[in-house]
Amino acid sequence: MRLLFFFLALSLLPLTAHECNPKIHICSSSDEVGEVCAREIAALIQRNQREGKPTVLGLATGSTPVPVYRALQKIVKEENLDLSQLITFNLDEYVGLSPEHPESYHAFMEEHLFSHLPGIKKENIYIPNTLAAKEKDLSREEIRQLNAAFPNRKKRGILSEEEKIWILNKRAQEYETLIAKLGPIQIQILGIGTNGHIGFAEPGSSFAQGTSLVELTENTRKDNARFFGNDLLAVPEYAMTMGIKTILQAERIFLLATGEHKARIIKAMLDEPISNHIPATALRLHPRAEVYLDEKAASKMRPQGKITRFFNGRVVKNHKLEEGEIWVVDGKITPPQTIADEEIDVKGEIIAPGYIDLQINGGFGVDFSLEPERIEEVAAHLPKYGVTSFVPTIVSSHQNQYKKILSSLTPKVMTTNRGAHILGMHLEGPILNPKRCGAHDSSLFCSLEDCCSPNEFYGNLTGVKIITLAPEVEGAYEAIEHLRDLGIVVAVGHSTASLQEFEEATEKGVCLVTHLFNGMDPLHHRNPGIIGAVLSNRNLPYSVIADGHHIHPKILKLAWHAHPEGMILISDANAACGLTPGEYLLGMKEIEVNEHKRAVLKGTNVLAGSVLSLDEAVRNLRRFVDCSIVQAIEAATLKPAQVLGIEKIKGTLEEGADADIIILNDHLIVQECYLRGEPINFN
Ligand code: F6R
Repeated sequence: MRLLFFFLALSLLPLTAHECNPKIHICSSSDEVGEVCAREIAALIQRNQREGKPTVLGLATGSTPVPVYRALQKIVKEENLDLSQLITFNLDEYVGLSPEHPESYHAFMEEHLFSHLPGIKKENIYIPNTLAAKEKDLSREEIRQLNAAFPNRKKRGILSEEEKIWILNKRAQEYETLIAKLGPIQIQILGIGTNGHIGFAEPGSSFAQGTSLVELTENTRKDNARFFGNDLLAVPEYAMTMGIKTILQAERIFLLATGEHKARIIKAMLDEPISNHIPATALRLHPRAEVYLDEKAASKMRPQGKITRFFNGRVVKNHKLEEGEIWVVDGKITPPQTIADEEIDVKGEIIAPGYIDLQINGGFGVDFSLEPERIEEVAAHLPKYGVTSFVPTIVSSHQNQYKKILSSLTPKVMTTNRGAHILGMHLEGPILNPKRCGAHDSSLFCSLEDCCSPNEFYGNLTGVKIITLAPEVEGAYEAIEHLRDLGIVVAVGHSTASLQEFEEATEKGVCLVTHLFNGMDPLHHRNPGIIGAVLSNRNLPYSVIADGHHIHPKILKLAWHAHPEGMILISDANAACGLTPGEYLLGMKEIEVNEHKRAVLKGTNVLAGSVLSLDEAVRNLRRFVDCSIVQAIEAATLKPAQVLGIEKIKGTLEEGADADIIILNDHLIVQECYLRGEPINFN
């Protein structure tokens, strides 16, 4: 049935049209609708002005566009817009009201817009002329044409009904021709009637209709009686209006609706079949139609996009496994809906948020510090390990390499990449202590004392989320405060900091410890250092590499029991992760990986990152420290999200969060992964 209406609508339309989804903007108030639309109009005027072109607008009357006109007047004044080339066409006008009548659309437009627009030329304002009661309302040319068309007409000053209709139809055609000549209309503003009319193209109007005379429906007259002191009889019965064809010829269309009384028709306009029963459905055939709503008008709208329900699972929520289901709309977790487009039976398995890796140097043959342009390739592989977002990490590098690395991660890449979400960069070094260099090239280490500020050193820090440094290096304390103020998480690592040095660093703004135990002085009973401070103070999160090589399982257990809330799992994976044992690079250093998945600097016993995947780290944690399933999962989800301050959208299955979902069995093996609600194929 729906399809039938659709083809019927298409057959009435002189274009080869297909259904498009209008872009929908939901604003908090009618004033905001006004602001946003007025900004678009002003931007168009400015663009045209730069190119020396006129701006052609289609305008509506009624209560809805008033805030647009108000906001536009303000912008015109503030920005001193030149309106000498502005041409406007109004959608419609009542028949039977003189332009002076306060409810005529001529008077309306003058009052709400034109009288407040300095520089607009009267001759560029077009509103259908419906005044044709007497000969004196006609131009000389019109009288000549009328006399020619009605040779026997009595010239008595007053027009007969037939003559009047003839003249008005003629003017309607001329209006249509004029729009085509001066147009196309670049932005057409529309309201919507509660019956779905646009302009006064009422239900039943053909989609192929141009400007014409129409009879208003009872519904429209009742709705508009509010402008005529609620006197229905005072509301004209006819109007001249642009037709649906005219409207669809505009380059862009903005349909506005505000208020609860428009909610039902907005829902119908978007959901019902495209047909002339609801003229506004025709906008779905326009490639550049946009709908601007306040929250009330949007309140009955079906959420846009696909609705998915994950059911029959155990959900990681409220720090436990809860029987339940998860609803996803448009890639976000939402409250339960009434119907789903897709139902996913998870067959009793665990539904968890996707893992977040705060430290990963590469994988699948890519080292991020050498080939930052290949980060997205690695991102595409990570969902099979349950990783749905990560912070690519850069081992200490040459100063000029940072500029290249940081410019490779544009905001566009960060939001649109197709794999795991790139959250920003982790710069591990080079403000590190050579005594605890690990696999880093200590010849690259520097202090800020002998170079400059962090911004000058690294370049653009916009995409940087974490910087690991050693606080005892000269100039580091100042850098900590500066970086913290930029919103960057400052972590301590590759450091020999004493208890006192470490605590001073936390006062300055350090809020994370990078791979506790590795790259720092071991715990000493008379010198607690970083490890002693973290595990006894219990107020800072710390990351660990739970691969069984970097920390003995018994020590991991000790740390867990001392400060379980703080423990965050990272992979610290290198380019060899996901590949077979062999030789690879970590930064400029050669590394070798043996069959026990141990990665060392070539020819040495120095550990050089890991080949650990984060899902394996979760399984190891559960096994090594005997924690609960949820505790193990949270160490790779909620906890890392909290470090970055994104725990409302990542690392959680609370409503409003991104639908980055993994399905795990009881052995914590990843069965399925969904990125923003979309399933990822592992093969
Ligand atoms: C106005 C017009 C009509 C109105 C519609 C909504 O030029 O053509 O389509 O836009 O009737 O009116 P309001 O905004 O008063 O609810």
